[in-house]
Amino acid sequence: MTEKTILRALAGETLPVPPIWMMRQAGRYLPEYKATRAQAGDFLSLCYNPELAAEVTLQPIRRYGFDAAILFADILLLPQALGADLWFVTGEGPRLSTVTDAAGVAGLKPASDVHEVLSPIYETLKILKRELPQETTLIGFAGAPWTVATYMVAGRGTPDQAPAHKLKDEDPVAFGKLIDLLTEGTIEYLSAQVKAGAEVVKLFDSWAGSLKGADFDRYSLEPLKRITTELKARHPGLPVILFPREAGDRYVGFAKATGADCVALDNSVDADWAAANVQVDGCVQGNLAPGHMVTGGEALVAETKRIVKAFSGGPHIFNLGHGITPDADPENVLRMIEAVRGGA
Ligand code: CP3
Repeated sequence: MTEKTILRALAGETLPVPPIWMMRQAGRYLPEYKATRAQAGDFLSLCYNPELAAEVTLQPIRRYGFDAAILFADILLLPQALGADLWFVTGEGPRLSTVTDAAGVAGLKPASDVHEVLSPIYETLKILKRELPQETTLIGFAGAPWTVATYMVAGRGTPDQAPAHKLKDEDPVAFGKLIDLLTEGTIEYLSAQVKAGAEVVKLFDSWAGSLKGADFDRYSLEPLKRITTELKARHPGLPVILFPREAGDRYVGFAKATGADCVALDNSVDADWAAANVQVDGCVQGNLAPGHMVTGGEALVAETKRIVKAFSGGPHIFNLGHGITPDADPENVLRMIEAVRGGA
């Protein structure tokens, strides 16, 4: 039996204390992250510098002793590897050259070409595999095809993903080709991450909630099922975590339908509802509103304990419902960890 508690929870074990890690645990709320990022120059230079990317991945492990480390990278490196231009505007977020029609999709590189740009990411994983404490699980990740496509079509983050919805409705053939290319590129990328040392992979479908009905199946569920199935065929026993954020009642049955070992829950679903309707199929992760890391106090402790209790009857990995924000107080993270490990 492995001593890695994250792997045990993913295998379906109900543990007396849930293992814990945090989305965006390496980030701007930590002074040591800001220092290393300044040393790297900018965000993308940090992502592509294996020594420094490994260093920021390790910082929250040293500070808090989280049970998992997540590779430091970004979901938008894959579009860059497929030939899109990518840059980050400080204080605003990502910008990409846009893909708005069939010609744009046809102009991208084939999935098998992604390793040329992404090879430094595999080096980061090799360093982490060497340096992580033996009880800490190493998580690799990628964006889900739909979410990555929303950024590629719009060239930036959007509140409603309107440009991607427009392309999928006006030219479903071209949009389907983009989704297929991203699906294949993601399989290549994650398979290489596993070979380099990732023990678990997670797919972020941050904008899954904007897909309804058959579109949800076609553009979120089916590509994620294809990626999960192919990765498990190539790497037998590999645990896969899927995060169809704001999927609402579509969380029900999502793990069974895709073959995932765990679904990550955002903070819009109720923990007791999710225990009864989602955790019945296996491990769940997440659910604490990231705002508690800013506001802290008794509400943070009470909500943390409520979530731990709600999921105590089955496999559970404690996490936030979305990434921690730059204005969070590092002391509140400590309070959350104490509330989880101190018992519910
Ligand atoms: O979780 C982790 O700590 C691992 C690293 C990680 C980052 N981004 C680092 C990052 C992961 C897993 C991501 C995923 C990611 N990136 C998602 C999916 C998850 C989610 O949040 O919904 C998305 C949509 C992106 C795209 C992205 N990257 C945006 C929209 C932004 C700008 C917003 C922001 O917070 O500034 C980024 C930048 C980014 N990615 C930062 C970090 C630490 C901040 C960059 C900086 O240091 O200036």
